[in-house]
Amino acid sequence: MGRNNEITPPGSLQERFVSFIWYGVIMAGWLGLISFLDEAFHTVKKFNYEAIPKRKGEVVVLTGGTRGIGFDILKNLLQMDYHVIMGVRKIEAGLAAVETIRKSGVKSGTTQCLPLDLKSLTSVRKFGETILKEKDRVDILLNNAGIMFEPYELTEDGFESHFQVNYLSHFLLTQILLPKLKSTGAKKSTCCRIVNVSSVAHTASAIRNVKELASPKWGFRNMYSGFRAYYDSKLCQVLSTKYLDARLKLEGTNVHVYAVHPGVIPTGLYSSIGIFGQIMHWLAKFYRNSDEGAEIVMYAAISPEIESEGGLYMQNSEKRAPNKIAEDHTIQKTLWELSETCV
Ligand SMILES: NC(=O)c1ccc[n+]([C@@H]2O[C@H](COP(=O)([O-])OP(=O)(O)OC[C@H]3O[C@@H](n4cnc5c(N)ncnc54)[C@H](OP(=O)(O)O)[C@@H]3O)[C@@H](O)[C@H]2O)c1
Repeated sequence: MGRNNEITPPGSLQERFVSFIWYGVIMAGWLGLISFLDEAFHTVKKFNYEAIPKRKGEVVVLTGGTRGIGFDILKNLLQMDYHVIMGVRKIEAGLAAVETIRKSGVKSGTTQCLPLDLKSLTSVRKFGETILKEKDRVDILLNNAGIMFEPYELTEDGFESHFQVNYLSHFLLTQILLPKLKSTGAKKSTCCRIVNVSSVAHTASAIRNVKELASPKWGFRNMYSGFRAYYDSKLCQVLSTKYLDARLKLEGTNVHVYAVHPGVIPTGLYSSIGIFGQIMHWLAKFYRNSDEGAEIVMYAAISPEIESEGGLYMQNSEKRAPNKIAEDHTIQKTLWELSETCV
């Protein structure tokens, strides 16, 4: 661990080619196919935001929101009259997203854009501590921002970028905001929620040695694959969802944790896979759109149907069995303790 500017991925060129074929072609192709078929046979449950009770005075913390699924989540939250604190890399991009929503006719709700770069634990700490200082409540934490299939990169904290952006930084943010979520939960009858936007891709992960995840010489037999890094980071989100929710239930707190797959949606997330991402955009009408993805995330965030049941992994607004590894208490605990050490 430690600071490191290394940019050469672990593994030889040949090893990385093999890992690309396995994780990037065979596994990603299989995942894409089964998700496509699964989604084709499920309609998305939609809320009537005009009809459901408004949440004036309640606070949501959302990572991302500038584009993709996060943008539509933001729109839905504003329709419900929440105060939304957006954690964004570029304040102008956050403000532009809010302006677009306002121009579409949504007048309710209030927003605040604060700087947040998930590649930096220092930035996460500043973001979280600003919220603790300025707000007397947090009702929902939506860990949405993410990256996928990116080239090998170590963050300023020395971690592989998918591991840190998708998982570790959200782990830290959750730790910082947890006391506020607990105190807010104690004041109300409905529960406070933490929603980790994970992915069906977590099912392709086969993490065996959790400790490898945090090591710069990361990778199966030291080989690097951005595909595998994404699958693993998404499994980490489900493992920590299960572990934290079980702890909160033991403590008897009124906070629940959910992991959700929003659907396969051609967004900017796929820009890293070049022509394949472009093809997905051309075929967009056959996939779900970000509005539908946002509805699925909103279901985990507000639906009364799952009010007291945390620790769920959800797809298509339904409970689903996650990857078996996600249920392994020993792996959950090892990851949790490793994450505490990392942050
Ligand atoms: N789209 C899918 O098919 C799909 C499927 C399964 C799961 N998901 C999950 O859904 C979530 C949202 O994905 P999306 O499709 O909406 O992706 P997207 O369109 O690429 O949006 C990603 C968001 O994350 C933010 N972000 C990226 N790196 C960041 C960093 N270092 N610090 C702070 N913010 C950062 C981006 O902000 P900037 O504008 O600053 O870049 C943007 O707001 C992700 O967690 C993804 O893994 C998506």
